[in-house]
Amino acid sequence: MRDLPKSVLVTGASSGLGAHFGRTLARAGIHVQLAARRLDLVEALATEIRAAGGSAEAVAMDVTDRVSVEAAFAGLTCPTQALVNNAGIPGEGSALDMDEATFDAVMDTNLKGAFLLSQIAARQMAANGGGAIVNVASILGLRVAGGVSAYATSKAALVQLTKAQALEWARFGIRVNALCPGYIETPLNADFFATDAGQALVRRIPQRRLGTLADLDAPLLMLLSGEARYVTGIALPVDGGHLVSSL
Ligand code: NAI
Repeated sequence: MRDLPKSVLVTGASSGLGAHFGRTLARAGIHVQLAARRLDLVEALATEIRAAGGSAEAVAMDVTDRVSVEAAFAGLTCPTQALVNNAGIPGEGSALDMDEATFDAVMDTNLKGAFLLSQIAARQMAANGGGAIVNVASILGLRVAGGVSAYATSKAALVQLTKAQALEWARFGIRVNALCPGYIETPLNADFFATDAGQALVRRIPQRRLGTLADLDAPLLMLLSGEARYVTGIALPVDGGHLVSSL
């Protein structure tokens, strides 16, 4: 992919999709700014990336805390040309039993976190002539499933925030898009997908397989690339056709 940003900040970069995005972007020649609450974990990833010939820095950040986010931005070695709002938590539980603290934590991390990061990054990007923001939502932001009401609501709101930001920030040369992964196999969920319920879920995906982390690479790079200059305000599903599964 050509015309990629020179620096990209990835939140929640200590594990899962975020750590994978850090490695992928670094391999594409981008300076990655790896943010997470656990500095030791992102330091270790930055060291790994540098040892492999890439360019990376690590920064401590709690996305729910404006003071922490502002301090992290202030400590970066160079301005952020693009942002990947990836930090997120599941907060599973039935809508009847969900406690208020869980609901608040899901909204604070998945929605308010992206709001805070995007606002601070966009002010910088606007001053520097533009940029790109990718909000990592989910197919659960576009449809619902049982037991994930808070999560699905937070991701639907994130998709709407994406569109509103795209509308307001186009004049500053900032593109804002949502990446909506389907079910991606990671070490955290591998056990579930080995169960009967997990296998039944996989059979409902038209491609009859889970996504892999690598399946997200081209869509992510595309959304970040200047070659996608006319693409803004979209929610791009990457789900093996799960959203178009037969009713
Ligand atoms: P994960 O739990 O491995 O990664 C989430 C990351 O966010 C972790 O590094 C965690 O420390 C960080 N995080 C959580 N709260 C934070 C906070 N307050 N401040 C800073 N960092 C914080 O989960 P995974 O699967 O890698 O998920 C990453 C993103 O992808 C999430 O937004 C998730 O909703 C989304 N997603 C994941 C899918 C999957 O199948 N794994 C499918 C669709 C979306």
